[in-house]
Amino acid sequence: MKLILLGAPGAGKGTVAKLLTELDGSVQISTGDILRGAVAAGTKLGKQIESLMKSGDLVPDDLIMDIMAQRLQEPDCEQGFLLDGFPRTIPQAEALKSLLEKLGIELDMAVNLNLEREVILDRLTTRRTCSNADCQAIYNVKSNPPKQEGICDKCGCPVIQRDDETAEAISHRLETYNEKTAPLIGFYENEGLLLNVDAAGSSEAVLTAIGEKLGAR
Ligand code: AP5
Repeated sequence: MKLILLGAPGAGKGTVAKLLTELDGSVQISTGDILRGAVAAGTKLGKQIESLMKSGDLVPDDLIMDIMAQRLQEPDCEQGFLLDGFPRTIPQAEALKSLLEKLGIELDMAVNLNLEREVILDRLTTRRTCSNADCQAIYNVKSNPPKQEGICDKCGCPVIQRDDETAEAISHRLETYNEKTAPLIGFYENEGLLLNVDAAGSSEAVLTAIGEKLGAR
């Protein structure tokens, strides 16, 4: 499958993407994970973007498009991909459209995960993420805690709160989402690709809604 996952911070994009990869071998491509990996590794890109990410600002479109133009041409994308956190602005969506046309790739859907602000705030403040940049497994102290407190089930590394999970950064990320990313819902509606899904239910319910729509195509 070739999907875009849209939704506010904390709506469940990463969680749903990881579950979808288990269905047919499509690969999750999370720009957030890629960028956090660059920060953790202290690369030139990582140093350039560290303060932007910590405060909840977006990374410039041209840097993101350089990363994604390369990533989408890697062989593992042939089986399918789940774009998690990308595109994030109208210019990114337009650039992605041109890139996919050039590569001869057709998207199946852009899935928009809808969630109320109060639930988003609750999920973000209770989320925990594996500190291993190659793992970045997602947990939640309420709904999905690791088996051993503070330790990742998958790789055994410490499970932490992300640098952008301060109250100030969360509020800034939500403002940035409303201003720059929410307009993508209209963009993909115009493209005839939008599927709105209620993300307040279980992850399984979200997967079922996506699966039903894909099956109907
Ligand atoms: P990114 O990593 O993409 O963060 P985000 O969009 O803010 O989204 P999150 O990862 O916070 O949330 P999510 O929707 O994946 O929710 P999750 O599944 O974890 O981006 C981080 C930063 O990188 C940006 O601020 C920006 O600086 C930069 N960046 C990234 N991409 C960029 C781009 N394209 N352009 C420019 N800059 C970019 O779930 C949240 C919690 O809820 C978890 O604890 C989970 O366990 C729980 N949960 C999930 N689903 C359910 C459910 N159904 N029921 C109960 N709990 C659930």
